[in-house]
Amino acid sequence: MCGIVGYVGRKSAGEILLNGLKRLEYRGYDSAGMVTLDAGEFQLRKASGRVQRLNDQVTVDPALGFIGIAHTRWATHGRPTIDNAHPHVDDAGRVALVHNGIIENHSSLRSFLENQGVAFVSETDSEVLVQLIGFLYDQTGDLLESVRRALRDVQGTFGIVVLCQDAPRTLIAARRGSPLIIGLGQNEFFVSSDAGAIVAHTSQVVYLDDNELVCLGPEGMQATTIDAAPVEKSVATLEISVEETELNGFAHHMLKEIYEQPASLRNAARGRLATDETSVTLGGLTQCERELARCQRALLFGCGTAWHAALIGEYLFEELASIPTTVEYASELRYRNPLIEAGTLAVAISQSGETADTLAAVREVKLRGAATVGVVNTVGSTIARETEAGIYLHIGPEIGVASTKAFTAQLEVLVMIAVDLGRRRHLSTQRAHRILRELQQIPDKVEHALTLNTQVQRLAADLCEWDNWLYLGRGVNFPVALEGALKIKEVSYIHAEGLPAAEMKHGPIAMIDPNMPVVVIAPQDHTYDKVLANIEEVRSRDGRVIAIATEGDHRIEQLADHVLFVPATISHLSPLLTSIPLQLLAYHSAVLRGRDVDRPRNLAKSVTVE
Ligand code: G6P
Repeated sequence: MCGIVGYVGRKSAGEILLNGLKRLEYRGYDSAGMVTLDAGEFQLRKASGRVQRLNDQVTVDPALGFIGIAHTRWATHGRPTIDNAHPHVDDAGRVALVHNGIIENHSSLRSFLENQGVAFVSETDSEVLVQLIGFLYDQTGDLLESVRRALRDVQGTFGIVVLCQDAPRTLIAARRGSPLIIGLGQNEFFVSSDAGAIVAHTSQVVYLDDNELVCLGPEGMQATTIDAAPVEKSVATLEISVEETELNGFAHHMLKEIYEQPASLRNAARGRLATDETSVTLGGLTQCERELARCQRALLFGCGTAWHAALIGEYLFEELASIPTTVEYASELRYRNPLIEAGTLAVAISQSGETADTLAAVREVKLRGAATVGVVNTVGSTIARETEAGIYLHIGPEIGVASTKAFTAQLEVLVMIAVDLGRRRHLSTQRAHRILRELQQIPDKVEHALTLNTQVQRLAADLCEWDNWLYLGRGVNFPVALEGALKIKEVSYIHAEGLPAAEMKHGPIAMIDPNMPVVVIAPQDHTYDKVLANIEEVRSRDGRVIAIATEGDHRIEQLADHVLFVPATISHLSPLLTSIPLQLLAYHSAVLRGRDVDRPRNLAKSVTVE
């Protein structure tokens, strides 16, 4: 949520900052800005709307210099206006700052500063921080100490980069609760909230931890805590490549990522399935062998799509591993009194590894004694580092705001964890073999499901004028209904609701009429006959039924208005296939409605505020 880029070195900063912002735009895109320093003067450029508008501005009026900071915003405090766009500059015009996160005590600090005569320009909480730094700097004349003192005074979360006219070759960056990565080049440094903005320049990076601060300049990198205690940082190598962040001929990242799924599912399973297909090897779980063996309960949590994956995980853990499992919205977990019994395994699911609510939930359950495991895609992300053990998805960066390939890889990893836990208990070799053999075949079957694309596109053209849709599923496909509804909401702004199919008759059935497409997920599993009965109920009320069904199912063709067939598989794995046509349906409906698929309004890829 919001993207930060900073550069100091010998190259033209403006270009590097702008290219970085373009790569970060999926994190927030309602306004953007940059400031460079040239001959002691700030060159400040800001635009409301997309980064392209900033691009147009700097094409005419370039920001010169070899040092600068930039930001793309997802508004929290204050509308997406030019005044509210970052970078913010202090009253005296000497200190500039970009900020991700939220300053919770901004009102009291603002009143204090206003009483001291400081004049504010924006409505943002972020400006309070730069004004506070500027105010302290006026008093002390020591920039670094002023940044430290200001950061001690603020409550909330931040990832910041500070540039000061009086220190024309130095950037100061610090974090608490909002990610920052330092890229190490030849006599140059990059700072970003996200590896995607750095990878074009260097693969050598340092991840800042909470409460750390770095000075980047001619003397190299000095890392300390915010309280000035020295810290040792190690250099990591980025695993992503620039190519992975490009469109490579696809119209949108979302479509590209939908099509990447056969490969991403192969990658997520690579080296993890035993050749005899009776067990899995999850290297990332070796740190919690004891906890896995003693696990009495599991608690799965995440937000958005990751929460839907958790709901499917609940079926898998209970059925394959016989472990009582509960699922929580990460955002709700910490506001209850979560009772963590001895032997609880807490599994945090997050594509980005930075979602603030999921991270807060990790910290909460850790404090209460749970063993924590992360199912995360972004290597080196905060959740990956703060969980005691973890399994990376290894699917490359996911850039489309609507999650697709991360969802299916999360499901695949959850199947592997459930089998691993099951094999330590009562899951027989034969049953494990059947599941894992089938899991091996899933990427090919996903490839086959993707051949539905043209059919789905035609169907979307037929349906996308309708504003309200229902998605129904049972058992393990109930969360798929939730995910299908979320996908179409996110990218096409069609209102959709996902329900357990049987719940429809307890209220939502009142809405069904010929103008309400009803998407029913109806693979041939033990719920099949009941789902057919629900289809009949919709038909009797003139609803339009779009069924997602198993290839070769001729019965359903008689009942549904449209059928999208996916290959047969065992019921536990069917979400990996039934979700594919739903992703395509959301994508094509959005394109046909003229939506900006990769940058849907009001959303952000990585939500680092609570
Ligand atoms: C945002 C994204 C969703 C995502 C959710 C959780 O809302 O728009 O697509 O599912 O965050 O993100 P995470 O990175 O934790 O999986």
